[in-house]
Amino acid sequence: MILFDRKVDSMKTPILDELKKLTREKPISFHTPGHKGKNTLANWKELIPQIDLTELPGLDNLHDPSGVIAESLKLAAKSFGAKETLYSVNGTTGGLYIALAAITKPGDKILIQRNSHRSIYNGAILNRLDIEYIYPNYNKRYGLFTGVNPKAIEKKLKEDSNIRAVVITYPNYYGICSHIKAIADIVHKYDRILLVDEAHGSHFVFSERLPMSALEGGADLSVQSIHKTLPSFTQTSMIHVGSKRVDIEKLKSMSSLYQTTSPSYLFMASLEIARAYMEGEGRERLERNILFIEELTEQLNEKDRIHVFTGDEEDKSIFDKDITKILFAIDGIPAPKVSQILRRDYNIYLEMEDDRYCLALASLMNEKRDFQLLKEALMDIADREYCHQEYSQAVDIFKPEIMLPIYEAFYKSKRVIDLKQSIGKTSAAFIIPYPPGIPLLCPGERITEGLVDYLEFLMDKGIEIIGLIGYNKEKIEVID
Ligand SMILES: Cc1ncc(COP(=O)(O)O)c(C=O)c1O
Repeated sequence: MILFDRKVDSMKTPILDELKKLTREKPISFHTPGHKGKNTLANWKELIPQIDLTELPGLDNLHDPSGVIAESLKLAAKSFGAKETLYSVNGTTGGLYIALAAITKPGDKILIQRNSHRSIYNGAILNRLDIEYIYPNYNKRYGLFTGVNPKAIEKKLKEDSNIRAVVITYPNYYGICSHIKAIADIVHKYDRILLVDEAHGSHFVFSERLPMSALEGGADLSVQSIHKTLPSFTQTSMIHVGSKRVDIEKLKSMSSLYQTTSPSYLFMASLEIARAYMEGEGRERLERNILFIEELTEQLNEKDRIHVFTGDEEDKSIFDKDITKILFAIDGIPAPKVSQILRRDYNIYLEMEDDRYCLALASLMNEKRDFQLLKEALMDIADREYCHQEYSQAVDIFKPEIMLPIYEAFYKSKRVIDLKQSIGKTSAAFIIPYPPGIPLLCPGERITEGLVDYLEFLMDKGIEIIGLIGYNKEKIEVID
């Protein structure tokens, strides 16, 4: 009897079951991946699992490409305007580890945005890099982090000759773009390297109506999650080289160091399918959807209580805004509640929500009907729902005191204490509201009262916080 039970349990497939359940209702996707569950140039149903192969004769090798993979990489470089392109089968996370390792050596210092994705912090731990911060502008009117000021970067580079490279996020998670050209000019004036986390901007190069790509803006190196905005499988990214400042051989050796020796041919084929598709029908679909989004944005902004953020002329840190990231709020309803209603009543799934804004991530693979349904749902919610709304008390980004370099703090011995008792202590953990995965606190940074209050506020609003421990997320790891 017991054996029988164990057998039943061991045959369970909880992940698959949940995936099937979720997709059964054919939800409308305004989140990643960019393929939105659709085929483009290949019918995956016919190809999987047969083409999930290994390095058989004729299939080349990602770690020393000279055949079909080399050809595919060349085509990618041409489409994305790069001198050379590499594939990352571990997303932009892996791509950033590779890029950071290629442009620095252990002990170097890098200048990064405080609101960088955690993969940049992880890259600093792996490569033992010291971190110096630049803070993005906080737009009080809209309650949003916007661009980084090129002059702030210049000031840091002037003051600190040890900074080896500058890393910026372009666009940010909300689609807001800093003045990339001005930043690249400054970085190059000081003879440093500009690495751009362009995880959310793979589609830029395919439309004049979108912001310029990081390479067009003068970046030396950019890493793009093709899977986020173009039709490729999750986990598929590209690393693009934009200038001779990057040592390509070192980049390739770091790519081999960090990537699996069994890269998925499904992933690699999916990357080249996305690129090839964008050279034809994909481009037309993108243009068509940009027009739908422009129309949707205009109509929503005409409606009382709905606001779609399209930029702020007075905010000089904003160079451009990616319209495909539909960032909106409804007055009188907290964003997590809007998102929940959209899921529950309209079968519409968003990319994320913070305490104030919802983010609907559209791609070229959305249908006209999706935009129509989103518009109708939001109008409907604005007409019928109202509840008390309270915004965060945090009016600016936290400027934490760094007590220890991140790579030292990460390996120190730790203990777990109550969050309330942690004020004044040094964090041993990343504390990250998710999404978007930007750390509020990093290992080695001092925990403040303001931060603890803010974390409690976010949790109260139903926002998931990664890094806190305990059933009610009431504990935190600090350095012993
Ligand atoms: C700004 C930014 N950079 C990097 C990443 C990591 O990208 P990937 O999921 O492709 O590893 C993300 C993921 O959300 C991100 O938002």
